[in-house]
Amino acid sequence: MQYELNINNYIYREIKKGRQTFSSNLVKNIDVNPGELVKIKYNNNFVAWGAINPKDYYNYLRIMSYNEDFDLYSELKDKIEKAREYRENVINYKDHYRLIYSESDFISGLIIDKFNDIFVLQNSNAFLDKNINIIKEVLIEIFGKNITIYEKSVGKQRERAFLMPVERFLYNNKSRTTIEEVGKNFDIDIISGQKTGWFLDQRENRKIINNIYGDEVLDAFSYLGSFGIIINAGYRYFVEKNKNSIKLLSKNIKINGIDNYKIINENAYKVLQEFYRENKKFDIVILDPPDLLADNYIKGIKSTILINSIALDLIDEGYLITFSCSQDMKEEKFYSLLRTIIRRKNKRFEVLYRFQQALDHKVIFPHQELKYLTGFLIEIKK
Ligand SMILES: C[S@@+](CC[C@H](N)C(=O)[O-])C[C@H]1O[C@@H](n2cnc3c(N)ncnc32)[C@H](O)[C@@H]1O
Repeated sequence: MQYELNINNYIYREIKKGRQTFSSNLVKNIDVNPGELVKIKYNNNFVAWGAINPKDYYNYLRIMSYNEDFDLYSELKDKIEKAREYRENVINYKDHYRLIYSESDFISGLIIDKFNDIFVLQNSNAFLDKNINIIKEVLIEIFGKNITIYEKSVGKQRERAFLMPVERFLYNNKSRTTIEEVGKNFDIDIISGQKTGWFLDQRENRKIINNIYGDEVLDAFSYLGSFGIIINAGYRYFVEKNKNSIKLLSKNIKINGIDNYKIINENAYKVLQEFYRENKKFDIVILDPPDLLADNYIKGIKSTILINSIALDLIDEGYLITFSCSQDMKEEKFYSLLRTIIRRKNKRFEVLYRFQQALDHKVIFPHQELKYLTGFLIEIKK
């Protein structure tokens, strides 16, 4: 059966502006199964094809195509080829990069990260769930038969869409590879690793911190240690609470020939407080916590203030490198929070650099929520 969805003038104009997702309170609700494709009409004229998930409040309707003769295979092929062209030939990211970033690449709800010949998919679109094999076939056609495709559709977006978590190989079964950033090598594991295996969003920021030196550096929330390994340092402390990540962290430190370091497999809040009690000082403190505002906004703000405040107590003179990866923490808000904390400590400071997410995480105008990473390189002066 072919379903139709008639929209009002407001939704019509939003679709024309490029908006691709609509919550269930904005459009007429129709009784369909999750992932049903519907023909969207305004004044009896075709506007777009949309996918409906009646259980997903926030992304009830996702725009899938503006072409009345919609063919999923050929449209995905065009979009993925265009996305690859941008990554490889415009921003010059070659071996590893975010190939598809949801609405920014006009494939709502889908993320595809490429690590050499391994492709990791994360999907929260019920229509694409039903057509996952088409995505697989398109990737094989574009990138060749030797690739591995792994689906890691887990996490909050998926829960909100009432879709079951899925972790499985879709094609071939390679799970580890080595990537290179700023002249350093990193072994990653897409299965035991966090998110899709590697935080691609910090790529440009790693290039910046590569130019800084500190005798003693603290990399808190270090994951596989990318910042602590890349930065120039006399002695490095890595703090990471996730046990699965520690093994690969140690391996990556060794691969890169680093001798003077300590790994602390502990809660960073506790470790920061212990260093404070010991009156320990660092030349550089790096804070790259997970999304602190995700579960509770007020608690998240308090945690942000707490860790940044203690980090500042650990620096007499040097650098604070601090990030937030919360959609709700806009750059100016984070800056004013940090400015207030630093001023209260009677320290002089200068913001040397404003960090943001890598270029493969591009953000299109109607979907500003895709912008989430912000950070600062702050020089703390006597
Ligand atoms: C955003 S990632 C860090 C990414 C890393 N800087 C990179 O560029 O690859 C945050 C890390 O903090 C770790 N983490 C979360 N809560 C923590 C805590 N309370 N103490 C220590 N580590 C924590 C997570 O396991 C994760 O590895």
